[in-house]
Amino acid sequence: MTKDFLHIADFTADEILGMLDLAKEIKSKFYKHEEYKPFKNQSLAMIFAKPSARTRISFETGFTWMGGHALYLGPNDIGIGKREAVKDIARVVSRYNDMIMARLFNHRHILELAEYSSSSVINGLTDYNHPCQIMADILTIQEHCKTLNDLKVVYVGDGNNIVHSWLQLATRLSMEFVCACPEGYEPDSTTVNNVHKSGISSVEITHDLKKAVKEADVIYTDVWASMGQKSEADEREKIFSEFQVNEAVMESTGKETFFMHCLPAERGREVTDGVLEAPYSIVFDEAENRMHAQNAIMVSLLGGNG
Ligand code: CP
Ligand code: NVA
Repeated sequence: MTKDFLHIADFTADEILGMLDLAKEIKSKFYKHEEYKPFKNQSLAMIFAKPSARTRISFETGFTWMGGHALYLGPNDIGIGKREAVKDIARVVSRYNDMIMARLFNHRHILELAEYSSSSVINGLTDYNHPCQIMADILTIQEHCKTLNDLKVVYVGDGNNIVHSWLQLATRLSMEFVCACPEGYEPDSTTVNNVHKSGISSVEITHDLKKAVKEADVIYTDVWASMGQKSEADEREKIFSEFQVNEAVMESTGKETFFMHCLPAERGREVTDGVLEAPYSIVFDEAENRMHAQNAIMVSLLGGNG
């Protein structure tokens, strides 16, 4: 196990499946109110250069429940990469804290933070990827679908950080992954090619939404304008309008299909209210599983650090 949790592809399939099993065990302890304090007397620094609800709350609640203390450092607090160099912050914060979770803009900054930090660093989202989210997503799919075999996941929308983590997961666990997006909004080509090279999963990037969603087990979407792109929201709304996940799209798959979204959702844009509220929508199980998946990630890193 590596020191840090930065990308899904840094882990083997066995390590990923092991963390998912551990997440289920820890989730069951949480439900039973069992005492579980692997982080007693430890502290987690949470650095946020962008806003957050789920990531902040799930990490803080999870780490506190596991006996530790979590410290929130918001966008106006330490000015990582602005007020102070990333490598300096890394060496200072890791002298005080046993673990660091960071949500940053520039992906190179999380790599630098991990390189210079003596404590484990967990990626809480960058412009490139969002690995904690995808661990929670696959945990949720394991709980709802009988098997992961022959799973078809169709992501509809912008080829963004969420897609990159899905693509990395597809280099480790076998699936059929399709990304249906407007032209010019495809995911990073190197990340796509790594799936082809791995030979583990099939991947298709398409502009044909109707064809893409056929036989989908899961339809997944995310906002059309991510954090840092909100000034493009109106322009993107026009470009992405054909890619809205609405009731007609969900009903056109030809089988029982779950709807997923990392949240926050912009209701009426990338997804309709009706889809979010439908019985096939598992977005709140998915949001809950952020905490259980992350608890397992943190405990695994602790084990790895001995
Ligand atoms: N899904 C997710 O990361 O949500 P937040 O941005 O609210 O943390
Ligand atoms: N793609 C979105 C994900 C939010 C959890 C963003 O980066 O804003």
